[in-house]
Amino acid sequence: MNEHYRQLVAKINQWDHEYYVLDNPSVPDAEYDRVFRELLAIEAEHPDIVTAESPSQRVGAKPIAEFRKIEHRVKMLSLANAFSLEETYDFFDKAAKELDISPESLMVFSEPKLDGLAIAIHYHQGLFSYAATRGDGQIGEDVTHNIKTIKSVPLKLSGDKLPEKLEVRGEVFMPKAAFEKLNRLAQDNDSKVFVNPRNAAAGTVRQMNPKIAAERDLQFIPYGIGEYQGERDFNRHSEIIDYLTTLGFRKSLHCQAFHGSFEAFEKNYRLMEAVRDTLPMEIDGIVYKIDSLAQQTSLGFIARSPKWAIARKFPAQQVVTRLLAVDFQVGRTGVLTPVARLEPVFVGGVTVSNATLHNMDEIERLGLCVGDRIEIHRAGDVIPKVVKVAEQGTDRQPIKMPDRCPVCAAPVERTAGQAAFRCTGGLTCAAQGAERIRHYASRKFMNIVNLGPKLIEVLYDKGVLKTIADIYTLSLSDIASLEGQGDKSAQNVLDSIEASKATKLGTFLGALGIHEVGEEGAKNIAKYFKNYEAIASASLEQLMQVPDIGPVMAKNVVDFFSNEKNQAIVAAIIKAGVTWPDEEGEPVSEQILAGQTWVLTGTLQMPRNEAKALLESLGAKVAGSVSKKTTCVVAGLDAGSKLAKAEELGVKVIDEATFLKEFNLEA
Ligand code: IVH
Repeated sequence: MNEHYRQLVAKINQWDHEYYVLDNPSVPDAEYDRVFRELLAIEAEHPDIVTAESPSQRVGAKPIAEFRKIEHRVKMLSLANAFSLEETYDFFDKAAKELDISPESLMVFSEPKLDGLAIAIHYHQGLFSYAATRGDGQIGEDVTHNIKTIKSVPLKLSGDKLPEKLEVRGEVFMPKAAFEKLNRLAQDNDSKVFVNPRNAAAGTVRQMNPKIAAERDLQFIPYGIGEYQGERDFNRHSEIIDYLTTLGFRKSLHCQAFHGSFEAFEKNYRLMEAVRDTLPMEIDGIVYKIDSLAQQTSLGFIARSPKWAIARKFPAQQVVTRLLAVDFQVGRTGVLTPVARLEPVFVGGVTVSNATLHNMDEIERLGLCVGDRIEIHRAGDVIPKVVKVAEQGTDRQPIKMPDRCPVCAAPVERTAGQAAFRCTGGLTCAAQGAERIRHYASRKFMNIVNLGPKLIEVLYDKGVLKTIADIYTLSLSDIASLEGQGDKSAQNVLDSIEASKATKLGTFLGALGIHEVGEEGAKNIAKYFKNYEAIASASLEQLMQVPDIGPVMAKNVVDFFSNEKNQAIVAAIIKAGVTWPDEEGEPVSEQILAGQTWVLTGTLQMPRNEAKALLESLGAKVAGSVSKKTTCVVAGLDAGSKLAKAEELGVKVIDEATFLKEFNLEA
């Protein structure tokens, strides 16, 4: 049993190593879970054999009562910062001078500067012993219970001739994906949202209950060693990093060793800047270290930082500035997006004066008012995001969604259940114009092959195309006078407009770009109503009878056709010669029971399925029970509880003879 147990422990630890350190899992989850369960069962039955390196020991049973203080036997130092290439080069130039060598002959090792928190992990005879935060560099806090839960921290080191004592130092961080998942969950549960992955990692390491850390996917990557009692000698920092990987730790991506010329630093910085956004974790710079340990020792320290290493910081991505105003931009689909106007500020390497606010829910969540000092974040090329209110302004003005579209003055509406507010200006709102025309002419809809997005944009900007109806009044010279267009290509455009005029009802309806009514929805509506007039005059109830059309889409259709400007545009298009055949089958005007719910009860002479089919063909829904919404109950012989219910609710009841007469059917 003991041997089998030891094998299970080793197997799971190996699988964890493959998954969390090598990013290369070798077993399916189900197999992992099965073996883990077997291990837990053995441990439950034989508690005396449980070993410290067992994966079950990562999460302690109880939360800790307090953070014990731990003294670092080797001080944990910090790094000096450099903010430019010149500062970086000068730092090593000075070091080279002190070493009496040329900077080009200095071997430098570069590592990403991981944005988390420094942790020291102590191993005794190859086994995880305890872990501490950096604290003030001399005294940290015991966070063993949480660090043990990190699967990329081995509980037992690999290899033989393991050191008697080894203190591994590195960064604990939360990968970007884990951070986003955590915040999504927090938002759903109305609990605390973390500002960035570093705060999330630090907050997690400072939890008393290790179960929380175990759920949050922290990671650890070492960048050096502290206390060490072992047989091996090291000559270079890069050797230490490689040695730590043989013991079972992760190694940072994009570490490089190079000679310290100005060009080499520049090249390395460009590389790291380029890969930064592709990394799974946040980095806030690059750490450059002199690789030779002898040179490191000879240079020593000043104050609290070494003279052999420096942190080249990326420009700050998070800064505080004032919110001057909030404007509302109308997007190409009619959504009004609040945009923060900021006191200009340097962030992420550029000066910015705008930030996105997404929607009104976000403004509410942040508790934002005009006049506040706010923290903004800018990563990579993206537009900055507002993170939080740093300090409330003295004369704070609440932020309100305008009632009318700032572009076309049409009323602004919020769709029930959605965060977005939209302009109801439809086909006439200039902000939506080019997009509406592009949608209309696209291959999926009117398929005006030679009127592509670029040409639309140009004609729209010139004011020649304002709405989709203007497509049909375009003249040869409107197009031929544009740069890069001749008479021939202009004629091609006009020809393809002409050729597109014969279309189908569903295609035309989809081309109108009614919000939420896509290709499929438009086809369903066309198929159901058969002709354009029936669609344009359909009621909400009638539209809701169409398969797969819900109340939101139905309302958008009704709103669209009740807008006079939209009506005028469609009329102009039809007048210009756009045509379609009616859909096959009986048009909806025959569907006199659309929107109604009928119930059949009792014994009917007419077969029940025929009666049902008849009602449905006339547009009614046939339900199995009576409610307040029931339009009419057809009661046959011996009708029982449904009839009683209808009478109780005051629902109209007719007998079968009346029913047949009503629909001109013979008994
Ligand atoms: S070396 C004496 N290497 O940056 C040298 N630090 O600003 C000690 N950090 O406290 C640190 N990535 O938390 C080093 N590859 C890296 C690092 C790194 C992140 C953090 C570490 C340190 C802080 C100094």
